[in-house]
Amino acid sequence: MNSDVPPGGRISGFSLARLLGEWRRRGARHGSADLAAAIRMLVLDGRLPAGTRLPAERELAEVLPVSRTMITAALDQLRSEGLVASRRGAGSWISLPTGTLGVVPDTPLVGHSMVDFARAAPPALPGVLAAFDQVRRYLPDHLADHGYYEHGVPELRARIADRYTARGLPTSPDQIVVTSGAQHALALALRLFTGPGDRVLVEQPSYPNALDAIKAVSAIPVPVGMTDTGWDLPGIAAALRQAAPRMAYVVVDFHNPTAHRLDAEGRAELADTARRARTPLVVDETVVELDLDGDPLDGPPPMATFADDLVVTLGSASKSHWGGLRIGWIRASAEIVHRLISTRTALDLGSAVVEQLVLAELLADPEPGLRERRAQLAAQRDVLLEGLREHCPTWRFRRPQGGLSVWCELDAPVSTRIAVVAQNHGIRLAPGSRFGAHGGFERWLRLPFVQPPDVLRDAVRRLGLVAASVTGPAMPTDADLTVPVA
Ligand SMILES: Cc1ncc(COP(=O)(O)O)c(C=O)c1O
Repeated sequence: MNSDVPPGGRISGFSLARLLGEWRRRGARHGSADLAAAIRMLVLDGRLPAGTRLPAERELAEVLPVSRTMITAALDQLRSEGLVASRRGAGSWISLPTGTLGVVPDTPLVGHSMVDFARAAPPALPGVLAAFDQVRRYLPDHLADHGYYEHGVPELRARIADRYTARGLPTSPDQIVVTSGAQHALALALRLFTGPGDRVLVEQPSYPNALDAIKAVSAIPVPVGMTDTGWDLPGIAAALRQAAPRMAYVVVDFHNPTAHRLDAEGRAELADTARRARTPLVVDETVVELDLDGDPLDGPPPMATFADDLVVTLGSASKSHWGGLRIGWIRASAEIVHRLISTRTALDLGSAVVEQLVLAELLADPEPGLRERRAQLAAQRDVLLEGLREHCPTWRFRRPQGGLSVWCELDAPVSTRIAVVAQNHGIRLAPGSRFGAHGGFERWLRLPFVQPPDVLRDAVRRLGLVAASVTGPAMPTDADLTVPVA
């Protein structure tokens, strides 16, 4: 083998097809662009490591199965991005565009081998451990029981209901279904409201795992673009009329990834619009407790206040307390709760009891822990913003008033390129394209502030160097990275 062909393993056409899974999703318009995007994501996720040798185009065309022209076009696209390299006689392999990275210093990251900027998920609140100790004391009572709670453990349902009531939305425990995280809650709502081929209105950009969940039930996301200041409510009204989606999925509190929050007036208008179109609103409140400049109990009224019959609210302990609990919930009308439980029992028979008891313990007096969480995140946010101003001075961003991340507008469409190169320098990033229903957002990058200040400072300094190397004058060209293909 030629010496510049990396020594990585070869992936068979069959294995690559399996990894690619559902890349030919419904509603896709550009086959080769979609295929290139799917392979790009496998590279960014680390599932196709650099050096992996790809199957021959002919083999790929057979197993996927698509035309050879489509495969060639997709690989050409990836070659132009430096993600695939080829040599006549040696085939193609995954590469990373490292041509200009001499400028990035090779010092270790503070305390971490890899900073995960792809996940906006903080570590556990210290109180979580103490809550486990508490629960251990009365666990024997529960162990005498069967442990199946399709609706959730009663004491947790009651505490979750109390929290809504404290936020100004009177709620009874039988309006709550405890789930295994908000992602599970969304999957249940999708099963309830949609079938294959149905449309689901989403914000554009939106939370990537929600987009994946929509596609996984073979529904079609109908994206409505966000504006610089938040929601395009007339655009949503038009999409509800024209596309007649079966449900809308929205994140009105510290939207992921833009961090916008819809005010009370906007909520009333959105509720009116949904009512006119008779479209259920699935409202994801995963980060509602993370109001970094105020008190969540003083925030705008929950969406359900404006349309209790139409709104299904998703909640989660993942960001407020700990993602490892895997506890979320749904708040809905008693009728919808009943239908959700019928849907659920085909999938699972309840969430883990010990973790539910732990969360019930934490919610008995939630304020001190939540205050601590908010203060820590606010301080980390400020460190990240300061670092961005210093090391990425041409990027534009708004100071998020809540949530866990900053949505940065870059000065060039290089988000994926930065994500790929950053991986080589200890930073894992989710490129902007992950947040679009059909990709895009190459000028955008979401940066979470869930790490401690010293890690954030070091990582953002490195990110600045990576960004400069990617957008600077010595960028690798297609000619550096591509060669004639066999
Ligand atoms: C908007 C949004 N919804 C849902 C989730 C997933 O939450 P969970 O861990 O409860 O499944 C996240 C996590 O990042 C999120 O940001």
